Amino acid sequence: IYLKEDVVSQECMTLLSILPTESGWLLKTLYNYQGFWQTARQLQGALTCQKHFKAQDTDILLVTTPKSGTTWLKAILFALVNRTHFPQTQHDHPLLSNNPHMLVPFLELKLYIDGENPDLSSLASPRLFATHLPYVSLPKSVQDSKCKLVYLCRNPKDTFISLWAFTNKLRLQEMGTNSIEEVFEKFCKGVSLYGPFWDHMLGYWQESLKNPEKIYFLTYEEMKEKPDLHLRKLAEFLGCPFSSKEEEGMVDAILDVCSFDTLSNLKVNKEGKLPSGESNNAFFRNGKVGDWKNYLTVEMVERLEKICEEKLCGSGLRF
Ligand code: A3P
Repeated sequence: IYLKEDVVSQECMTLLSILPTESGWLLKTLYNYQGFWQTARQLQGALTCQKHFKAQDTDILLVTTPKSGTTWLKAILFALVNRTHFPQTQHDHPLLSNNPHMLVPFLELKLYIDGENPDLSSLASPRLFATHLPYVSLPKSVQDSKCKLVYLCRNPKDTFISLWAFTNKLRLQEMGTNSIEEVFEKFCKGVSLYGPFWDHMLGYWQESLKNPEKIYFLTYEEMKEKPDLHLRKLAEFLGCPFSSKEEEGMVDAILDVCSFDTLSNLKVNKEGKLPSGESNNAFFRNGKVGDWKNYLTVEMVERLEKICEEKLCGSGLRF
């Protein structure tokens, strides 16, 4: 997704020629479309998805900012909605042999990325998809249908460190690594994948306040602190609450199979690769809250906190 060359259609090229540009973290050009930064290929995926994706009322869409714990929530939602199909105790549970990104595909980064229009109508419901698209760029049918959105974001300081580490891991050897100072500047200017990060969060935050039945707004930190509470709430929100008949053990079993330790130690996630080229292990680093303390200077922290204060001021959203 992140490294492949940006070959796009003529229609997309025409649009790109009029969009503002910046250089990205992986030596690729980023384009500002509808207020958010993305690569040419990702933008083509977004346009195709906007044109063709028809949401169904029973669909579940996981929306995240990059590096906020997408892989984890993909696993959790997959295990949750398929819990009668695949009991967690099963030795051949799909999560044990597939990276979560293979089980819950991204719309714009996988299904529609090459400008194709795949037939998704025959997939069993509830269909489970993921996206990084900002609220303004969602396909219209997502807003018009009764499909549910689970939104996940993360403390910007940890998001930044995770993104910095991830992009350095993906950069080919000959590219060298990004210095933290260099990409910190970009991040603070809002130039990061699907950034500005504050606008991404605010778009969904404001919609979730208006329409809490439609959007469940969650942070990585909340999920880390009270995973069982949020798993139960997610189950209720998605219309599949844990029944009294289901043993208490079900919640624990799901959290266990989706835990950082379990997933990151599986052979598929240690050695496997996505068809798009990324090593599965790039999606597992240490999964901690507050790791930014090991990397950011006092000045960087102050600057990022000030940006958050200014941008999120009055919204009720704080980190
Ligand atoms: P760190 O880089 O801070 O370790 P995404 O999936 O959106 O790309 O986010 C990746 C971040 O989620 C990484 O954070 C990764 O380690 C963390 N992560 C991956 N799987 C996880 C899990 N099962 N539980 C908690 N965190 C997880």
